[in-house]
Amino acid sequence: MFDLAEPAEQAVLVHVNFPQEHSTEDLQELRMLVASAGVVVLGELSCSRQAPDAKLFIGSGKAAELAALVADTGATVVIFNNELSPSQTRNLERLCQARVIDRTSLILDIFAQRARTYEGKLQVELAQLQHLASRLIRGFDNERQKGGIGLRGPGETRLETDRRLLRDRVKALKIRLDKLGRQREQGRRARQRSEQPVLSIVGYTNAGKSTLFNRLTTADVYAADQLFATLDPTLRRIELPQFGEAILADTVGFIRHLPHDLVAAFKSTLQETRDADLQLHVIDAADARRAENMRQVQLVLTEIDAAEVPQLLVYNKIDQLAQSPRIDYNEQGLPEAVWLSAKTGAGLDLLQQAVIQLLSQQHLQLVLRLPPRLSQIRAQLFALQAVQHEQYQEDGSCELSVKITAANWARLLKQCEQSLENYIVRPPVF
Ligand code: GTP
Repeated sequence: MFDLAEPAEQAVLVHVNFPQEHSTEDLQELRMLVASAGVVVLGELSCSRQAPDAKLFIGSGKAAELAALVADTGATVVIFNNELSPSQTRNLERLCQARVIDRTSLILDIFAQRARTYEGKLQVELAQLQHLASRLIRGFDNERQKGGIGLRGPGETRLETDRRLLRDRVKALKIRLDKLGRQREQGRRARQRSEQPVLSIVGYTNAGKSTLFNRLTTADVYAADQLFATLDPTLRRIELPQFGEAILADTVGFIRHLPHDLVAAFKSTLQETRDADLQLHVIDAADARRAENMRQVQLVLTEIDAAEVPQLLVYNKIDQLAQSPRIDYNEQGLPEAVWLSAKTGAGLDLLQQAVIQLLSQQHLQLVLRLPPRLSQIRAQLFALQAVQHEQYQEDGSCELSVKITAANWARLLKQCEQSLENYIVRPPVF
């Protein structure tokens, strides 16, 4: 893998505009990505093309210009803001006498530096290896190797050995991730069974997700002015006044053109987002590209099948806009956006209010009076943590105040051998 972690890494950036991609604003983001990887930029080269050049990606004139820029500045690496084929990479490396990496490698590298949990690290490694596998076509010298003990077969080419080692490692990683995924799944099912709603924070990278998460949970999750500071969803329990407990999940930051291998590798971690009761879509309201960033987040959510989950827009960083906190409501009188500052804390009360209103929509509240022979129902309601209050009556029955999701209530009614209608003291209200 390319190691961009060394602080001494010095780079020239290359950005190519293709008319059909409307990618003019991408250069600014590339600068942020590169700074995030701890790389110093010594020079930049931009150009426009109708289509990539098969051999050098940029035309031969521009490529010569690039080689001269690299020589003049003494840069050791050239970073392209596009996808390069293995042969384009090799040709450019030969011409520039420097390492050449593309956007996917750069993003994977940043993710590799930021991954904190064991599962996150394995997921990034898997994505890196899969990306590497796609470039191991003719890239390595094909000389015959001597037979080795154990790992290498006699007469195997270097390329074959590389491929086999890579395949073995990918297989081992997948098995380990599968196991971790199953454990995660068990936890998720248990949470689903319980009546605690799950709120998932999603948003473009650097939007302020971790800052908001910390504010809401007072947990010390790492927040930094670096892209992708968060790689692993972090789950915390929060208390919503007059509503009860909920689970808050912080997730990885999204970005345009997120490498597909990476999205695939993070799919299990992003499951929380897919199964959430409500997504809090955090947006950097002060970012000039905010509409485009929101669109990119929606694209990733669609890719991971999480686009159907109800969403509350959270316009963050209003301190930079000198704007007051507020809630925007839709035609049905339900909150659709909250404007706040996670940093100063302004508007956090409004966010709580909006979340409670939306979650309450999804929950039924009712009062049941159950005779002793229906103690099984009572036990099930307790197992679901749906009972808010219980009071025994003189006739031996018990009165239960219940808060339950509509889905669980429907499931319970279906399981019951007899109708519960006669035992409902106060009918369900949303
Ligand atoms: P990724 O992990 O890259 O996805 O980032 P994130 O969305 O979790 O962002 P994070 O919370 O790390 O915040 C990014 C930067 O924005 C940090 O420097 C924060 O201090 C800053 N920030 C967050 N919220 C606010 C805010 O309300 N106002 C201002 N001015 N800055 C904020």
